[in-house]
Amino acid sequence: MASSSLICETGPWKDLRAHVEDIKKTHLRELMSDTERCKSMMVEFDGILLDYSRQRANLDTLNKLYNLAETAHLKEKISRMFNGERINSTENRPVLHIALRAPRDSVINSDGKNVVPDVWQVLDKIRDFSERVRSGAWVGATGKVLKDVIAIGIGGSFLGPLFVHTALQTDPEAIEFAQGRQLRFLANVDPIDVARNIAGLNPETTLVVVVSKTFTTAETMLNARTLREWISAALGPQAVAKHMVAVSTNLTLVEKFGIDPNNAFAFWDWVGGRYSVCSAVGVLPLSLQYGFSVVEKFLKGASSIDQHFYSAPFEKNLPVLLGLLSIWNVSFLGYPARAILPYSQALEKFAPHIQQVSMESNGKGVSIDGVPLPYETGEIDFGEPGTNGQHSFYQLIHQGRVIPCDFIGVVKSQQPVYLKGEMVSNHDELMSNFFAQPDALAYGKTAEQLLNENVPQPLIPHKTFSGNRPSLSLLLPLLNAYNIGQLLAIYEHRIAVEGFVWGINSFDQWGVELGKSLATQVRKQLHASRKKGEPVEGFNFSTTTMLTRYLEESAD
Ligand code: F6P
Repeated sequence: MASSSLICETGPWKDLRAHVEDIKKTHLRELMSDTERCKSMMVEFDGILLDYSRQRANLDTLNKLYNLAETAHLKEKISRMFNGERINSTENRPVLHIALRAPRDSVINSDGKNVVPDVWQVLDKIRDFSERVRSGAWVGATGKVLKDVIAIGIGGSFLGPLFVHTALQTDPEAIEFAQGRQLRFLANVDPIDVARNIAGLNPETTLVVVVSKTFTTAETMLNARTLREWISAALGPQAVAKHMVAVSTNLTLVEKFGIDPNNAFAFWDWVGGRYSVCSAVGVLPLSLQYGFSVVEKFLKGASSIDQHFYSAPFEKNLPVLLGLLSIWNVSFLGYPARAILPYSQALEKFAPHIQQVSMESNGKGVSIDGVPLPYETGEIDFGEPGTNGQHSFYQLIHQGRVIPCDFIGVVKSQQPVYLKGEMVSNHDELMSNFFAQPDALAYGKTAEQLLNENVPQPLIPHKTFSGNRPSLSLLLPLLNAYNIGQLLAIYEHRIAVEGFVWGINSFDQWGVELGKSLATQVRKQLHASRKKGEPVEGFNFSTTTMLTRYLEESAD
């Protein structure tokens, strides 16, 4: 394929298009009755079992997807990423989040320089700092131990760390290391979020970590100034040095803000915001809460998937398989959404994190060469833990729109069960649903079955389930720091695979800029109207009316 041509113009893409008609003739019920097919659609790596037999696909589909991947130069693109080439062409940057979790002795070059020693220098600094804070060697301005941390950040500087923190919060090993400490996240510029974060906290025992790749994000910087004031007002301005540290690629702005550069933890341009949880963005707050040794296991889990992604053949490669199946669902079967359904409350923040990783990466309208795309990219990701989601939006998934689902289950719960003597334990009850839902979606329920159950005729259309609704299942042995790292990396790479095949740049995010610049215009207007009484000007009728109403009714 010539570098500027679109993947949809290639033979393998057209071949898959034609193949859709074959697949449409076969219901998942039939596909599931072929045991050999199902056997070939189960793949295991490092304790994680993927079952994709409930995809509307057969072996022919898979072969055609592998052809597509080859035509899209998937293998070469993965290698270019691992080799530190500047694959984020619109920002002229390499994409090297894999280096953040690489073993200390590995070599990953960018522009001829091995970046791994720099990564470990920061990791060592985090280990040292977090140990000093946790042990009380580093104390606040009044000599008290800093037992509470507020991490200020938004988007990629928030969602990944929040997901990992939430997942570790109930892990017995992590609990032991948390030792009564608290970690909170302040993301929204809404004063309500500020109030919730500082509620019940004492500035004397609080450490604030300002996390921002650019150190210019309006919401984060306003929240950082607010908490700087919260600390100064209680303890005096000199206390800021003891109570505020930063994570950023922009150490100049960190210093300008008033944070000692010695208390700043760097990362690099080659780490995308949404791929930054394994940098100081996640590692610092998580190490402060759980200790570095727990976080190191998380990094090891992610690294194990990196190696697998780089070297496993496509038919055994979890991220590649998941990515290709998503392409099949979105671009060929025409399903625009994907539900992420972990059967684990600990993973309640997984879907929100993946929403950003996926939708900010692959929601694009042009190819990497700037050519408008005649096909849609990205999917609408959403999700909730089961079984909560079952009592919320599953009705639509079962009888309304077709939404491919990812079911994520864990063999051993993080927590013991209290109630004995029930028919099944809480965890078995949860997992009963994890195993049942994919079959309900795949097989459905026919009118004939309902008739046999003596369902009254008028109710039969309402109680019929068409089935033939695709899903896949991932079964993890446990949910500890290592497995959480694996899960993260599987999804990060899956999303990269999708972008590589669609021929887009999954690593920029120009689509967030327009809203930011319009907000600047509104901000200036609010300032001018409030301070100088200037009328609202330069906006359309709708915005003028709404802004005027807001100004009038919110005036002091
Ligand atoms: O929303 C756009 C974005 O640039 C994200 O990509 C990023 O994760 C987030 O803002 C926060 O940016 P920063 O870490 O620079 O504050």
